[in-house]
Amino acid sequence: MNRKKPFIVTMLAAIMLVGLIAGCGNNSNNGGNKPANGNATNKPTENAATEAPPEANKKLVVGFAQIGAESGWRDAETDSVKATFSEDPNFELKFSDAQQKQENQIKAIRTFIAQKVDAIGLAPVVESGWETVLKEAKDANIPVFLLDRGITKGNEDLYVSFIGSDFILEGQNAAKWMIDEFGAGAQVNIVQLEGTVGASAANDRKKGFEDAIAGEAGYKIVYSQTGDFTRAKGKEVMEAYLKKDKNIQVVYAHNDDMALGAIQAIEEAGLKPGKDIKIIGVDGIKAAFEAIAEGKMNVTVECNPLLGPQLKQAILDYKAGTTLEKWIKSDEDVYFGQKAIDALPNRKY
Ligand code: AHR
Repeated sequence: MNRKKPFIVTMLAAIMLVGLIAGCGNNSNNGGNKPANGNATNKPTENAATEAPPEANKKLVVGFAQIGAESGWRDAETDSVKATFSEDPNFELKFSDAQQKQENQIKAIRTFIAQKVDAIGLAPVVESGWETVLKEAKDANIPVFLLDRGITKGNEDLYVSFIGSDFILEGQNAAKWMIDEFGAGAQVNIVQLEGTVGASAANDRKKGFEDAIAGEAGYKIVYSQTGDFTRAKGKEVMEAYLKKDKNIQVVYAHNDDMALGAIQAIEEAGLKPGKDIKIIGVDGIKAAFEAIAEGKMNVTVECNPLLGPQLKQAILDYKAGTTLEKWIKSDEDVYFGQKAIDALPNRKY
């Protein structure tokens, strides 16, 4: 009889251990956050409510795979993420700069997985090619949050939430400003400076703009070329085009840095940016507001880079078992004329 007691105790302990392991296994669908249909882009998803709370006093470790430092907007986003997590003693941030290369971002994610981080933030440089590595994160029960740029549709089960802007709407807003400015029926030659090839920000800003002018026969995109979201390439592309043709009324740049590069090229070609050629940018960086105040640029469509606080909140909500939106959208505006001049003193980035 006396020999049975320790046996029962051992059995009970074994059953509890098996139960614990099974509980962890239940949380394997991307940290337990897979949408019901695996396809929804803007639907709430259920979080891993059964997940064990983080150990008391244990910091949440977040890995952030950033694209690089190609623009003022990108620097502002990096600063926002770094400041948000360094100011909070409950978090530790592991930051990686991929220098514009997808392969470096993939390596960084694999390192974060090996380090068993609690969550991964990813700003995907391009839309495609993420399935394998994000599946690895999912298999490791590490929730992934997409920041600012999206990935190819149909992969919604590989991440918890996308936090960022509506790039199609930004393209539409750029076109709307232009049509309001010149009027329906006007003859307008447009140079489009595209962002990084394959990036969602470039694909969607192009689509939004081109769809919006599709019914306007007089609005023609006479040239469309990537400037890779950098000031230097924006200038280079514009310089090359102006050598062939100066009959342009509008430059539509997928970001402000390329618009600012184009402004330099236009001035060097002896034309007046903002007057001879209207300049439309996207982002809303301070330098664009200054160019608008100087009369060299006409409009900037805002895209919010201050996403650090939203990323932190999403991770906390996820860990607490709260329902998260699949797409956590940013609030944005369009700035031109006096409205831009009035807003300039308060621009943070
Ligand atoms: O993904 C957002 C875009 O990336 C910004 O518009 C651009 O400046 C940045 O490089």
